Amino acid sequence: MKFQKSSPLRGEISIPGDKSISHRSVMFGAIAKGTTEITGFLQGADCLSTISCFQAMGVCISNDNGKITVMGRGLRGLKKPDSVLDCGNSGTTTRLISGILSAQSFHTVLTGDASIQKRPMKRIIEPLSLMGAKISSINGTGCAPLSIEGCHLKGIHYSSPVASAQVKSAILLAGLYAEGETKVTEPALSRNHTELMLSGFGADVKTENTTAIIKPAKELYGQKIQVPGDISSAAFFLAAGLLIPGSQILIKNVGINPTRDGILKVFIKMGGNIQLLDKRIVSGEPVADILVTASSLHGTEISGPVIPTLIDELPVAAMAACFADGVTVIKDAAELKVKESNRIEAMVENLKAMGADAEETEDGMIIKGGRPLHGAVIDSRLDHRIAMTFAVAGLMADGETEILGADCVNISYPEFYSDLNKLHS
Ligand code: S3P
Repeated sequence: MKFQKSSPLRGEISIPGDKSISHRSVMFGAIAKGTTEITGFLQGADCLSTISCFQAMGVCISNDNGKITVMGRGLRGLKKPDSVLDCGNSGTTTRLISGILSAQSFHTVLTGDASIQKRPMKRIIEPLSLMGAKISSINGTGCAPLSIEGCHLKGIHYSSPVASAQVKSAILLAGLYAEGETKVTEPALSRNHTELMLSGFGADVKTENTTAIIKPAKELYGQKIQVPGDISSAAFFLAAGLLIPGSQILIKNVGINPTRDGILKVFIKMGGNIQLLDKRIVSGEPVADILVTASSLHGTEISGPVIPTLIDELPVAAMAACFADGVTVIKDAAELKVKESNRIEAMVENLKAMGADAEETEDGMIIKGGRPLHGAVIDSRLDHRIAMTFAVAGLMADGETEILGADCVNISYPEFYSDLNKLHS
């Protein structure tokens, strides 16, 4: 896929459904009693992996172009799958499902693609084992494939070394089945979609500072869920709208949950003209339309508790920093190394290929803005967020930018390139 310098982007765009919320809606619907109807579901490969895993465990799920119906089987109604469960590229599927499988009355093996087989799973193996699950990395690498033997679980209070919603959610889901209360304390608050949605399904879950607390559930009950647009996908249009001179984009129906809105805070702090319109609550989640207007940005420091609230947007923030005056320092973000690719390495290598002044650090990167970027061949490392970040960079660079492995955007945003094209004035 090739990109050239762009004219201003103008117009209106609706962002596809939130990936995190889409996964959870199917998972919780599958273990609830009754029917769950989901609209705005993200038809990305990751969320389709979640659907197929639950179908393999006997859950009837129909998918009619974004309208999903899940015929829940109740907390204890899942069936042993006939074969290995394939989570594809999806860390959320792998880690959250592990929490549920830890309490079932059957044995399962979970695996995924080459990237998933390199991602750290000790972070869930440890707490789930403490709860009594028999869960192990089959090859002894601490990664998938995982073997999970469902067991009688007991509640724990776990202090997670990482702020990770996937870890927190795996433990909370296991906590639904455990004896006694389960608590997870994080070093900083990660996204809270599990807590919000599980409460809507009838679970007794609450949050105290950075601790989530769940009591065992007798049953969850099917819900109607409207999935808001994904702020992580909107971020590419925020960056393009801010950086391409003369642009103005209205991004409709974006989830702005405060545990996810760090990119808005950071872009506004950098001088970005971003307005939130028609703020509302949809299915328990805050949503707004976002009007973004081209702006001159200045460098900033991105660190501390804001990091988990924009962890997936740091690649596009780093790219935007190349166009900002002064230095941008990203720190406390070592988690970037264990995403779909090592995103610190992938960003710095590709930004440098385009002529940027970017440097890797232990837990982030340092970007000196103001150098014009030129086109280059970009290795996406088959990481959807790297591909989309550099597609946007290509719209500002001199000459041609070619993204290798560009199709990986199917993971979270299959229509990304056509949506981007629609905004060319
Ligand atoms: C997610 C949590 C985050 C995020 C991922 C989705 C979730 O991962 O990066 O894209 O849906 O819970 P971590 O929990 O590893 O931080």
